[in-house]
Amino acid sequence: MAVLGLVGLAAYVLGSVPFGLVMARLFGLGDIRRIGSGNIGATNVLRTGNKPAAFLTLILDAGKGGIAVLLARWLFAEDAAQVAGFAAFMGHCFPVFLGFKGGKGVATFLGTLLALFWPAGIAACLTWAATAAISRISSLSALVAAFLAPVWMTILGMPQANLVTVALAALIFVRHQKNIERIRDGSEPRIGK
Ligand code: G3P
Repeated sequence: MAVLGLVGLAAYVLGSVPFGLVMARLFGLGDIRRIGSGNIGATNVLRTGNKPAAFLTLILDAGKGGIAVLLARWLFAEDAAQVAGFAAFMGHCFPVFLGFKGGKGVATFLGTLLALFWPAGIAACLTWAATAAISRISSLSALVAAFLAPVWMTILGMPQANLVTVALAALIFVRHQKNIERIRDGSEPRIGK
């Protein structure tokens, strides 16, 4: 139990690293929290027009979830991997380095899924991409991908990861409340606009 606590703490600290903020600063784009939606994620970094910064934010935010899961699995076991994925996600959303005001967790969610069970992770990424291709709305794509993630976990053969998957998917919905309001009134910005 103490081991799981330590794994969770380490993964939380890793998840707390706000790569969007770091990339925006490194690329001279200013404080990403003062741009667009104010979110620290790749979608908002993309709104600066700097694609490399947005791409690096996506990879690093996904990577911190994936690395946390893979390291915990390698060092300990599957239950530790699931705790690590959940904790990294919580770190991204409630980062200790930013006064617990963080992002919406989508990239970290996808990275965590890919490491927990790659077929479901790939399916979730494809769900995001297909919804984005049709709607051009990043938040809607995240919500559809989150909603279907437990379905992919079950159908593709890892139902034992469903507790953590459902918990993360529910938190994605909680973190997107303002986006959901904007989607409903038609004011949510589209990718590239
Ligand atoms: O990855 C976050 C995305 O789903 C929404 O971001 O900046 O449009 O609120 P944003």
